Amino acid sequence: MSATSLRGAHVVVTGGAGFIGSHLVRELARRGAARITVIDSLRYGDVSNLGASLPQVQLVRHTLGEGPREPVREALRGAELLVHLAAEKHNQSKDDPTRVLRANVEGSLALFEEAGRAGVRKVVFSSSLYAYGRLEGGAMVETELPAPRTVYGVSKLAGEHLLAYQAARSGFRYDVLRYFFVYGPRQYAGMGYKSVILKNAERLLAGLAPTVYGDGQQALDYVYVDDVVEVTLRALTSERSGRTLNVGSGEPTTVLALLQRLTEVSGSARSLEFQPADWTAGTRRFADVERTARELGWRACTPLTEGLTRTYRWLAAQGHGDAQGADEPGAP
Ligand SMILES: NC(=O)c1ccc[n+]([C@@H]2O[C@H](COP(=O)([O-])OP(=O)(O)OC[C@H]3O[C@@H](n4cnc5c(N)ncnc54)[C@H](O)[C@@H]3O)[C@@H](O)[C@H]2O)c1
Repeated sequence: MSATSLRGAHVVVTGGAGFIGSHLVRELARRGAARITVIDSLRYGDVSNLGASLPQVQLVRHTLGEGPREPVREALRGAELLVHLAAEKHNQSKDDPTRVLRANVEGSLALFEEAGRAGVRKVVFSSSLYAYGRLEGGAMVETELPAPRTVYGVSKLAGEHLLAYQAARSGFRYDVLRYFFVYGPRQYAGMGYKSVILKNAERLLAGLAPTVYGDGQQALDYVYVDDVVEVTLRALTSERSGRTLNVGSGEPTTVLALLQRLTEVSGSARSLEFQPADWTAGTRRFADVERTARELGWRACTPLTEGLTRTYRWLAAQGHGDAQGADEPGAP
């Protein structure tokens, strides 16, 4: 099956000033996209994430789900491809669930309607493992019945269905990617929660021991941001449509193993510090990635040690040593 070319294309990226979005925008520029329009509220992202100014990147500051739609309509004019990454995320949803629904449900529907009106050819939507809702057992597989147990998970599942609905009405192609725990440089742009990796990398930089809650046997699926960018661009340029695909490493990594590895990477000789168990005790959340491998010829290829090294070096270069503000391990 032939693939759409990125060279010369006009691509719109919502959430492009955030963590994953900024990596994606830089890669789109590197691969020759002629125009990249970023729609971002800058509530969590920052223009500095985009690095040195790229002449083909335009920022439209707009909050999806709020205010008039004209900025979205204008941003999509003449666009061929859309990646929808902007979202209110899990830890943000605890304090203000209606904000999450406005952004992730109402904002997504309005965006998809405008994409249809603009004649966009393909839309890729970043959903989440939180759409599944399951906390234990074997690998999460796309054929299982989702049962989200958080407002964030419900909003992501709603976004998936609204995309299918609008694609049927407008005739554009689409794919849904369910990202697992994405990590890498520029994660956490200064507001909100810190993932277990960032919180503990900061502790190590401050000369403190990493903290494990409970026995550390809770397992998560960590996938490095460059791998996520690669699979997202494969979906975006694929001529196929209507797929829901997991994006993870396919490997469960225990918090204990993760933090031992991170400590090695930091060069510290500290042993881990154990704290009483929290709600994550006994949880196990990882992806079955066979469908994604089959459909897109992709598997995550950055080894954990390599990804952690790059993330740790980035954080060290920022001069971080503040170990405050941790929340759920890596909650996307
Ligand atoms: N990071 C992960 O591990 C992970 C895992 C699963 C899914 N995801 C999904 O991937 C996407 C990107 O996540 P990220 O980790 O890069 O997050 P991020 O917070 O770094 O980036 C999101 C960007 O969207 C912007 N934004 C938020 N609400 C907006 C709104 N209403 N209108 C316009 N812009 C808005 C923010 O300012 C930010 O720049 C999100 O949809 C998230 O749900 C991320």
